[in-house]
Amino acid sequence: MYILAIETSCDETAAAIVDNNGKVLSNIVASQVEDHAAFGGVVPEIASRRHIELIQPVVNQAFREADVTLSDLGGIAVTQGPGLVGALLVGVSFAKALAYGLDIPIRGVNHLEGHLSAACIEHDVSYPHIGAVVSGGHTSIYKVNVPGGIIQIGQTKDDAAGEAFDKVAKLLGLGYPGGVLIDRIAQDVDYTGIDLPRPMISDNSYDFSFSGLKTAVLNLVIKLKIFPDLDLSFSGLPKKRRALPGKEVLIPKIAAAFQDAVIDVIIAKLVRAIKDYNMGLLVVTGGVASNNSLRDCLKETTDKLGIQLIIPDKKYCTDNAAMIGIASIRQFKDKDGKNAYLNMNAISRWRWL
Ligand code: KG4
Ligand code: ZN
Repeated sequence: MYILAIETSCDETAAAIVDNNGKVLSNIVASQVEDHAAFGGVVPEIASRRHIELIQPVVNQAFREADVTLSDLGGIAVTQGPGLVGALLVGVSFAKALAYGLDIPIRGVNHLEGHLSAACIEHDVSYPHIGAVVSGGHTSIYKVNVPGGIIQIGQTKDDAAGEAFDKVAKLLGLGYPGGVLIDRIAQDVDYTGIDLPRPMISDNSYDFSFSGLKTAVLNLVIKLKIFPDLDLSFSGLPKKRRALPGKEVLIPKIAAAFQDAVIDVIIAKLVRAIKDYNMGLLVVTGGVASNNSLRDCLKETTDKLGIQLIIPDKKYCTDNAAMIGIASIRQFKDKDGKNAYLNMNAISRWRWL
């Protein structure tokens, strides 16, 4: 059976065709990064409007690349939440209309279950395991008992890791989106002498907090007088920010120190979860899981612990529709009728995990 999967929860318009054995036949992602770059972050209203423009061509391309036609489809899967409600509604409405028109079943997928399911695309995943979603919207740790049987054991108390990457990059004048830019300039940088906190690293929970770390970077940037402007903050439109002559060398160092602080906390919490729950497999996914340094540290750590590590290929870590299709397979196996989910709605804040 072929499934069309659609993902529009944030700023990527994505469509994929998968089959019910978990094979990905196409995976198309239209990024809206350039539409939002001038604002230094995702503008929900712009995202919704771009999804409306992009969804049809993206879906068409997914069919073309998979060499599948509408009449081959057995079902449609769509991200139902959590996410920006206006953005979600575009995907949900499109999917419902198509399912109704074709008279085929539809299923709503939780975006976080989608991220965790990305691990199954190119790997054999065993259960139970510890899973983590580290993205722009979430930094959470889960005990994944079975596909769809997921218990959240930790989460961020404030900013998500990716959000902190984006805000710090903006502060350092690097541009948007920040994660990949920090990743690039921080590689192999010696930042001796720059000390940043590792918030909540030694408490007993699996929770995170990145807001204080972000503020520590802000205070450091002010103290070191890196930029001529003094009204530095994380809000507002990105300023064209240029370091004062001679101070440019500090930017990669601060970026590297920040990145390592984030990574140290993530690794510490994951190690705690693995040990406490005595698990033999760790799955790490979400946009930040495409960070090269984090990937290396995770590999080193899990090798030392003697456990298996699965980090999906980078194209399946960031938002995509293939992961939504894979997550939907278990739902298509249920006995609910064809029209069971035709009345579903977007769920902006979805607390089922
Ligand atoms: O999973 P994702 O595509 O969307 C959400 O569901 O949020 O994650 C996007 C986040 C952004 O904050 C972006 O800066 C971050 O992932 N990101 C990275 C890297 N690539 C993307 N963060 C650190 N290093 C990267 N290489
Ligand atoms: Zn995501």
